[in-house]
Amino acid sequence: MCGIVGYIGHQKACPILIDGLLKLEYRGYDSAGVSTIENNYISNMKDMGRVKNLYNLDGINDLEGSIGIAHTRWATHGKPSKENSHPHMDNSNTFSVVHNGIIENYQELRSFLTSNGYTFKSATDTEVIPNLVHYYFNKDVNNDNKKFLRAVHSACMDLKGSYAIEIICSEFPDCMIVARKDSPLVIGVGEKEKFISSDIPAILSFTKNFYLLNDGDIVQLHTDSIYFYDKNLTPISKDLKNIEWDASAAEKDGYEDYMLKEIYEQPRSVRETIGSTIKAGSLVNFSEINISKEYLSNINNIYIVACGTAMYAGLSAKSLIENLCKLPVCIDIASEFRYRNPIIDEKTLCIYVTQSGETADTIAALKLAKSKGAKTLAISNVIGSSITREADYTIYTHAGPEIAVASTKAFTAQVTLLSVLAIYFAEILGSASNERINTLKTEILSLPSKIEQILELSEEVKSFAHKVYTEHDIFFLGRGTDYAVSMEGSLKLKEISYIHSEAYAAGELKHGPIALIENGITVIGIITSPNLVEKTVSNIQEVITRGAKTFIITSEDIENHNYDKVIKIPKTDSMLSPILSVIPLQLFAYYISKEKGLDVDKPRNLAKSVTVE
Ligand code: G6P
Repeated sequence: MCGIVGYIGHQKACPILIDGLLKLEYRGYDSAGVSTIENNYISNMKDMGRVKNLYNLDGINDLEGSIGIAHTRWATHGKPSKENSHPHMDNSNTFSVVHNGIIENYQELRSFLTSNGYTFKSATDTEVIPNLVHYYFNKDVNNDNKKFLRAVHSACMDLKGSYAIEIICSEFPDCMIVARKDSPLVIGVGEKEKFISSDIPAILSFTKNFYLLNDGDIVQLHTDSIYFYDKNLTPISKDLKNIEWDASAAEKDGYEDYMLKEIYEQPRSVRETIGSTIKAGSLVNFSEINISKEYLSNINNIYIVACGTAMYAGLSAKSLIENLCKLPVCIDIASEFRYRNPIIDEKTLCIYVTQSGETADTIAALKLAKSKGAKTLAISNVIGSSITREADYTIYTHAGPEIAVASTKAFTAQVTLLSVLAIYFAEILGSASNERINTLKTEILSLPSKIEQILELSEEVKSFAHKVYTEHDIFFLGRGTDYAVSMEGSLKLKEISYIHSEAYAAGELKHGPIALIENGITVIGIITSPNLVEKTVSNIQEVITRGAKTFIITSEDIENHNYDKVIKIPKTDSMLSPILSVIPLQLFAYYISKEKGLDVDKPRNLAKSVTVE
């Protein structure tokens, strides 16, 4: 799980590469490096630490080459160190490679290369690639202009696992080869220049025109030409896509951190996700998919499979889908689902929720469901991402690029889209009354302005965060959808504040967790379901009696029974409430992290996009 950038054109490559890497740091940030070619010589500069440390490397500003590759790393094989940083070169210093992914058979390839006289400097899986390319390059007796391409292709044929790679060669100084399999890679096209990256936002300030690569694609790039090949090295053509995201949308827009910016973008991202799906007097419209009544009526159950925050988005929407469609909905963690032989067949609809569309476990879980005959529907935030090319149906959240590692606006967009999807299914099935559906539609349309009202309460959240930021354990309690959102709130807090935290279904309190409550412990209670208010209030009283400090997020008119802080949020249908009640929890995690002086956007050990298992 790493970020890669490449450039070939008429400008000095190094500053462009570092600029791209800085925007890709969410993919990993334990070491970084660049390689450029000048006068048929590859300069390779790299070190441990953040991308900005590259500016301190001796001679980096003197790199004049206008072709180069670069990498920001999140260690998988081999600890973070200079030797293990990318780019990696072959023994003869003819090839330089950056790689994102995991080469599963690298031990085998390493033994093969060692027996052919190659030596290795790093503990990485990647270092086999430049040496393997060198091996095939040397064996090839044809010295034509495809020799470099053929060598890379032969090497790729030997690789098992996942990769997005960029390779340069000192003997072909005007050419770069890139290839992908199960790891993301895009090519941006400018005027006589090409920008390569793991994702679109990193190079969006240079171009809005992109080629999206498929698994097995291999591409030969020159300043003013580009040749695409499939996995058999047969030439293929591709359409250039125009991406309309605004480059400034991927910047901080004056906010201190991406996470805060993304929290404040939620009225817009929820509004844009609803988009034109809901219109007064019409049925829900998903123009991208066309699911028939015949198919849906034959479905016995629905699975929602995802990882991390996306999984909690599924959990938050479960009740609404069940309630409207009268179908059981199972929520599963993708890494569990894929290895436990789930009972699914052609009568199961499997929904995969993923912001990036690149999460390895989620993609594998989708492939498994397809192999068992189930139809698959992907919900992604990234157009053309890997999962969208595997799924039978895809619908998009329109949250815009999410850069902070801790997901915020993607979550609310995902729950919103799943809620609209529930209505879409119910309308096809005729499984809910018009009155119920119309009320929900009105509620969904009012969510953006309600989020705006909640954001105005941020100072109140901040003041409570200031009181408790030194704590070591914080508990979250809720029932129903409030329990689902408690889990997301607890995850947010862990991710960026490093405070130990647990979320419990409030009714479970007496079955164990209450033993942990003692004087001064902070408990956060979420209370938005009118029919469960009294139950949760009683549970909160039980922790207050045992000395807990309490922070209550509620849409209900509850009496203040000695709570330390109450945040009153607007009312909505309780099955939509996670879209509102999560906002104070996101702000709470954010302000705690700030109080502790931590790096909010890049928490330790985490990466935005988990493209390995
Ligand atoms: C990582 C991110 C989380 C995200 C999860 C799933 O753990 O840090 O924020 O929820 O991956 O990512 P996806 O792109 O599939 O939604």
